[in-house]
Amino acid sequence: MNSVSTGETEKRPLGEWSTVLAEVDGDGIAWVTLNRPEKRNAMNPMLNEEMLDVLDVVECDDSAKVLVLTGAGESFCAGMDLKEYFREVDAGGPIARIRSRRSSNEWQYRRLMFFAKPTIAMVNGWCFGGAFTPLVACDLALAAEDAVFGLSEVNWGIPPGSVVSRSLAEMIPARDAIFYIMTGKTFTGVEAATMRLVNEAVPRGELRERTTELAKHVASMNRTVLEAAKTGFKRARSMEWETSEEYLYAKLDQSIANDPEHGREKGMTQFLDDKTFKPGLGSYKRD
Ligand code: COA
Repeated sequence: MNSVSTGETEKRPLGEWSTVLAEVDGDGIAWVTLNRPEKRNAMNPMLNEEMLDVLDVVECDDSAKVLVLTGAGESFCAGMDLKEYFREVDAGGPIARIRSRRSSNEWQYRRLMFFAKPTIAMVNGWCFGGAFTPLVACDLALAAEDAVFGLSEVNWGIPPGSVVSRSLAEMIPARDAIFYIMTGKTFTGVEAATMRLVNEAVPRGELRERTTELAKHVASMNRTVLEAAKTGFKRARSMEWETSEEYLYAKLDQSIANDPEHGREKGMTQFLDDKTFKPGLGSYKRD
């Protein structure tokens, strides 16, 4: 596949899709861009199908160490496509609706929530309705300070569907969630950071740089350990304490057994014997 120069780092396309752009750069960052800017990146059935393929490709491509999800143009994602996902699928009958909902949910939370590599949502603009699901499913999230978020469903005559409300319940305080779900009012990237929907809001001009910095940091870390750490946290939240103790120890043992670089051994040797680093202040030295 041809390499293209972007002026920042060199990026290599990971494939060809009509509604998504996916490229990996020299730092191992897979930039996955919802690419329907003329429709503000609203998610139609084609995009949902293509995202399943894109996630497979990124997960299996060894050069991709971390996935950044963003949107083309001035929008992160305007939610589900009202014409193609709702009106046209409704016209197709119940089976069409089941199939369309399945591919949508499959990538937006099942696959993304437990993706084998770290994921970061980079909210560059409009973020409405269904867009909250992949946003919450990503491990980390950064937003432009002036990005605009909204649970607009009530404004056009429905309550939030699918797992949008469940996603909000996972991430933000109930007072905020119910307020925005019931009023349909918008909020900014700054407010999203205050309610912890995103980790940080930064000036628009610094969003890509800050995201790259964070992505490079996680890309430089032990992938096996990060997968075990995030999956352990996400799964254990809904478990009883006793079950989560068993599960998290099993996850820890699995991580040690599966770790090709034997991070735990290296870390202990470097701290206890070589005295070359302090685990509280940074990572052990990888080969
Ligand atoms: N579904 C389908 N089409 C959408 C869409 C959506 N969710 N969001 C935007 N579009 C389309 C518009 O219909 C328009 O198409 P057209 O050029 O064929 O007329 C195009 O995208 C541009 O939209 P426009 O409204 O002109 O852009 P804007 O920049 O002025 O406003 C938004 C952007 C996001 C504020 C506005 O498009 C909007 O409110 N979208 C709906 C958001 C929503 O309620 N999403 C929840 C769905 S679950």
